Amino acid sequence: MLVHRPRRLRRTPAIRNLIRETNLSRHDFVLPLFVSENIQRGREIPSMPGVRQHSADEISQIAASAHESGLPAIILFGVPKAKDEMASGAYAEKGVVQSAVREIKRAAPDLTVITDVCLCEYMSHGHCGVARVDGEHFNILNDESVELIAKTAVSHAEAGADFVAPSDMMDGRIGAVRAALDDAGFDQTGIMSYAAKFASAFYGPFRDAAESPPQFGDRSSYQMDPANADEALHEVELDLAEGADIVMVKPALPYLDILWRVRERFGRPTAVYHVSGEYSLIKAAAEKGVIDERAAVLEIMTSLKRAGADFIITYWALELMQWLRS
Ligand code: PBG
Repeated sequence: MLVHRPRRLRRTPAIRNLIRETNLSRHDFVLPLFVSENIQRGREIPSMPGVRQHSADEISQIAASAHESGLPAIILFGVPKAKDEMASGAYAEKGVVQSAVREIKRAAPDLTVITDVCLCEYMSHGHCGVARVDGEHFNILNDESVELIAKTAVSHAEAGADFVAPSDMMDGRIGAVRAALDDAGFDQTGIMSYAAKFASAFYGPFRDAAESPPQFGDRSSYQMDPANADEALHEVELDLAEGADIVMVKPALPYLDILWRVRERFGRPTAVYHVSGEYSLIKAAAEKGVIDERAAVLEIMTSLKRAGADFIITYWALELMQWLRS
């Protein structure tokens, strides 16, 4: 008698391709770019091998050539010359990001430009909001910060940003940004919210890149506790209700469960940020010769998509363009 028992199909390469559930494409990636007012020429960020800060003069060329190689979008971070207690560089008409966006849009009108909207790079103390310090203690003032965040977002839209991405994690900022954009006539400017942004050890190298480490305390009063998943879902729900067009989970690999639940629960456009520390880890291992960089990166990116990401913000975006072509 013939007995049928469950078995796995033996896979040829063709079958493998035909039944693959998750496919990476060149349309899946957004590249973070850093533009600095403090340098004349690009310089590599020591903690992030292969990633550079660009000068104001060269940023539009860098962005345009990335677009020519197939990159659909960038997310832009600014490093200003001067910082102060009110982050005035963040919303200056001729600020580092505003000027760069204008130049980039001139050089590559079809490149989608997302701007990171935060105060930390522009604050003398490096926090994401207005701080009140008394003695040993400090408080980040939510509503005062939200006002400046909204002002910053409008100034980015005026410069031509397609999307603004508030990364500060203050309460009510998405609603405030949406209202401010609409009032200023930018109802077509989208919002990608850093909705579930965890207080993470994996942002270390970024703070080198953006020159924005907090001068005192840490960000745990306004970023999410890595232990909390339901709270993260609640944050995402609020941001969607306040008008976010895309919600983001950040960092990536330690938070795959959050990513999965956000995509399952809300079914809305969902991004994930594979952050600086996650990047530097793989780079360091590859430099030591203990891991195959390309294979590891393709596996990570596939896993992020499988877990629910519609797209991925990654420092490997350009390499991925090439790898997926060959
Ligand atoms: C600014 C901001 C940070 C990152 C993106 N936007 C740093 C932070 O919150 O400390 C981190 C990105 C990365 O690590 O690649 N608020």
